[in-house]
Amino acid sequence: MALKLEAGTKLVAATHNPGKVPEIAALLDGRFEILTAGQLGLPEPDETEASFVGNALLKARHAADLSGHIALADDSGLSVTALDGAPGIFSARWAGPTKDFALAMDKVAERIEATGTENYSAWFTSALAVAWPNGPAVVVEGRVDGTLVFPGRGTRGFGYDPIFMPDGHDLTFGEMEPAAKDAMSHRARAFAKLKAALFD
Ligand code: IMP
Repeated sequence: MALKLEAGTKLVAATHNPGKVPEIAALLDGRFEILTAGQLGLPEPDETEASFVGNALLKARHAADLSGHIALADDSGLSVTALDGAPGIFSARWAGPTKDFALAMDKVAERIEATGTENYSAWFTSALAVAWPNGPAVVVEGRVDGTLVFPGRGTRGFGYDPIFMPDGHDLTFGEMEPAAKDAMSHRARAFAKLKAALFD
C-alpha cells in the first residue's frame, strides 16, 4: 500500500480542541476535510508513552482504529538542555490544571537557576503522526533550537513562547509576528516533512 494522502480525504484530527482545526487545515494547504476526535465523540487516550513521537503515534492510532478514518495527531513541547530535556512531554502538564503558563515558565526558571548552569539552551519539538485504520502509520518530528530568556518577553503566541528566542534571532517567539514564527517553528518543520512524505 502506497502511503499517500489523496486530496479531499476525510482526516480525523486527534484533538478535542476545535481551535486547532483551522490551523491544521491551513498547514495541510486545505487539501483535506478535517473532522475532530471531539466531534466524533472519540475518547481521549492517556498519553502513556515516553517520547513526543510515541505519544503522537498513540493518539493517531487510537483515533484511526476507533473512527475508521485516517487520523492525524501531534505532540509537542519545550525541552531544556540543562534539565535533561524537561519539561518535554510534560510541557502542558507543568502549567497545571488551569493551564497557567506564567507558572510553568517560573518553574523552568527556578529549576535552571537551581542547577547553577549558564547553559540556557532549549528546543521545541513537534511530532506528527498519521495512522491508517488498523493499518500502517507515518511519524515525523520537527525541531527548532534556541535560548531561554528570563523574564519572558512579548505577548504574542502561547505557552512558552515569551521565554524562547530561536537561534539567529533577537526576538522571542512571544515578540515575533506570527508569520515569522510560523516560517521557522518546530510545527512548520514537522508539517513540511509530513507533506514531503505523504503528498504527491
Ligand atoms: P500538547 O498539546 O500535548 O502537544 O502540549 C504541548 C505543550 O507544549 C503546549 O501546551 C505548550 O505549552 C508547549 N508548546 C508546544 N509548542 C509550543 C509553541 O510553539 N510555543 C509555546 N509553547 C509550545
